Amino acid sequence: MSFFDTLFHMTEWLRTTWVVDFSLWLSNTAACQWLQSHFVAIPGFQSIHILAIGVLFGSALMVNLRILGVVGGEHSVPETVQRYMPWLWWALVALIASGMVLLVSEPVRNMVNPFFWIKMTALLITVLITAWFHLSARARMTGWDRSSNGRGAIRAGAAILIILWCIVMAGGRWIAYAPA
Ligand code: HEM
Repeated sequence: MSFFDTLFHMTEWLRTTWVVDFSLWLSNTAACQWLQSHFVAIPGFQSIHILAIGVLFGSALMVNLRILGVVGGEHSVPETVQRYMPWLWWALVALIASGMVLLVSEPVRNMVNPFFWIKMTALLITVLITAWFHLSARARMTGWDRSSNGRGAIRAGAAILIILWCIVMAGGRWIAYAPA
């Protein structure tokens, strides 16, 4: 079965779940009606979403490429983490807020949509790994320049995080192209 056949079957399955009734209920709310009847609303929130993606992925790249030893060698790993992680977390807040508004603006198109659920699943996994990375790996990062213990695992994690954020972004872009 091809990738797109799988997506088609995922859409068919989504149509048998609670998602249909919930998204139809959302599409009858005053919030959805307001967003659809004000021309600048949806492109406005899409612009906020895209700007926040730039900040989030830029920060994620600066931290993970420093860990991989590709950029930023003039700053220590702990300094780089301290500098960019707040930007990443605040951009994520902006993405969740603008994403929720975009979701409500076209609920049926966005929720009866395999790309949306692939993106949300990848986002949850990525945020959990990023939080684990930021909290537990940070302890090992303070000794980063002194010893190479555990560097391999942290570097593998950094590479995986870059790939996961790309999956989240691709999932977001393909929402508009899901097989109906
Ligand atoms: C709970 C969090 C989020 C929700 C509910 C959400 C929801 C959405 C929705 C509904 C769209 C479709 C917009 C459209 O085509 O009209 C979208 C687009 C997109 N999202 Fe998200 N999103 C969230 C977080 C994120 C995050 C964390 C990223 C990236 C790191 C991201 C990346 C994208 C991208 C790249 C697009 C396509 C933008 C475009 O080309 O117009 N989203 N998102």
